[in-house]
Amino acid sequence: MKVIRVSDYTELSRKAADLIAAEIREKPDCVLGLATGSTPEGTYKQLVADYEAGKLDFSRVRTVNLDEYRGLPGSHPQSYRYFMDTHLFSHININKKNTFIPDGLAPEKEECEEYEKRILSLGGIDLQLLGLGRNGHIGFNEPGASFIMETHPVKLTSSTIQANARLFNDPEEVPGRAVTMGIGTIMSAGKILLIVNGEDKAEALRKALYGPVTPSCPASILQDHPALTVIADEEAFREIQACGS
Ligand code: GLP
Repeated sequence: MKVIRVSDYTELSRKAADLIAAEIREKPDCVLGLATGSTPEGTYKQLVADYEAGKLDFSRVRTVNLDEYRGLPGSHPQSYRYFMDTHLFSHININKKNTFIPDGLAPEKEECEEYEKRILSLGGIDLQLLGLGRNGHIGFNEPGASFIMETHPVKLTSSTIQANARLFNDPEEVPGRAVTMGIGTIMSAGKILLIVNGEDKAEALRKALYGPVTPSCPASILQDHPALTVIADEEAFREIQACGS
């Protein structure tokens, strides 16, 4: 595990974008596993800036996203398809046909099987970007999730629904279900980049990096990945300093 400690969110975003840019330069048709949430927004902004400055070419890049809410069409402002289009895809020269996100409206079981097949047909994920849920979730793999699962439907925990409610006009609108890559899918990526900022993630980060590897903290399995890079800011490291790890 390589741990990069940064002072703030701006530095985190710059460093994460640099690692993704390096992957694209090394393998122009790479398969990037992408994430949503507030954490990667800055990273995507930096990638857009690099593209606009003529430093990056996304024309051959393929992407697969971690997850999607059930019941939201891609045109819904809180769907993850909409998020990816507005924060990244619409600002770069990627072929949208090469960007894959689970379809929140397709029949659940078939969609999961199709998505897993899709990832395999692309040749697997070269670099998977991950944020961290406050309860240690990755994608929408909530505490207790099996470490070997592939893409599957999930019922969201009330803590995740609450955490994500801030992004909806009406908290009642947050879907109770989602489709997510499983932890088995995530762990099969060639490289993983976990980005974490803010004090409210400090406990989850400590458990993820230095706690026991246990399904009660889904992100703890990342300790077993052979090519994990973690970029986190001082605030997220607060608990790790406190316990002297
Ligand atoms: C959501 C997403 C996760 C994301 C997490 C943290 O539940 N499914 O992929 O990592 O929230 O989000 P944020 O970065 O907004 O804290």
